[in-house]
Amino acid sequence: MSIIQTVQALNIWLDNHERSRKSLGFVPTMGYLHEGHLSLIREAKANNDLVIVSIFVNPTQFAPGEDFDKYPRNLERDYELSRAAGADVVFHPEVDEVYPDGAATQVEVTGALTQTLCGLSRPTHFKGVTTVVNILLNMVRPNQVYFGQKDAQQALIIKKMIRDLYMQVKLNICPIVREADGLAMSSRNVYLNPEERRQALILYRSIQKGEELVHQGVTDVREVIQAVQEEITKAPLAVIDYIEILEAKTLESIDTINDEVLLAVAVKFGKTRLIDNKLIKPQEGQLCF
Ligand code: PAJ
Repeated sequence: MSIIQTVQALNIWLDNHERSRKSLGFVPTMGYLHEGHLSLIREAKANNDLVIVSIFVNPTQFAPGEDFDKYPRNLERDYELSRAAGADVVFHPEVDEVYPDGAATQVEVTGALTQTLCGLSRPTHFKGVTTVVNILLNMVRPNQVYFGQKDAQQALIIKKMIRDLYMQVKLNICPIVREADGLAMSSRNVYLNPEERRQALILYRSIQKGEELVHQGVTDVREVIQAVQEEITKAPLAVIDYIEILEAKTLESIDTINDEVLLAVAVKFGKTRLIDNKLIKPQEGQLCF
């Protein structure tokens, strides 16, 4: 596996590996890799000749006061995990390589997709994400790119950007990988102290509770949200940022669950903000009593 820091070196590597005759899969990350990231790398490897993983903690998607400076980093471990998962290249550019001469171009998806969920609590976040993903895709020029359902809104926004800009890349959205006890894997889980870590299980539990209700035939969004909220407040350290049930593809607000929905939650434990979600389909042919 090669470790590459510049676009020039990346292009030389690609030429040397007969890029034009091979399929290339790309997994963008901010590093501090865990099984969630590795599942994307393995999926990319299973479906492409060559796989590039990028590790770049992107400053433009962090607001002032967020955790950019203390975002966890462990490059040596990331290299080893990437190699073991099948990566051919880890692309690890410096900030100046990605944003040379104070780059002035931004890419922004507008509308409902970005104006809900994390877009409300982190208003500048997604513009930073779409801008850097655009830059990275232009640098790597893969056939396929891999994102996780863990960041459901991010994946939908990237999908819209690829569609709107006719970008020539196939998007793959891969399932959420969880710890054995149900907590969705995240690089930020290391911020949690043992008590917060224990209580953080409430995210997935509350989502399961919501799903259970929908499967029992509850269609009133407010009723399901109320039940999820009651579940989360059982964890005394949990501070709810949002609990939402939205139309699964457009993220538009709904009152009644008739079709597939996204149940998404964001909860803070101390300074650590965790997100989780599930796509839920109402069961067909439900019995009415
Ligand atoms: P990062 O948080 O490092 O995540 C990189 C990719 O891994 C994303 O597509 C994310 O959804 C996926 N991922 C994270 N946790 C996962 C889990 N538990 N199961 C499955 N997939 C998971 O998302 C970013 O970085 C950045 O915003 C980025 C797209 C790299 C742009 O800077």
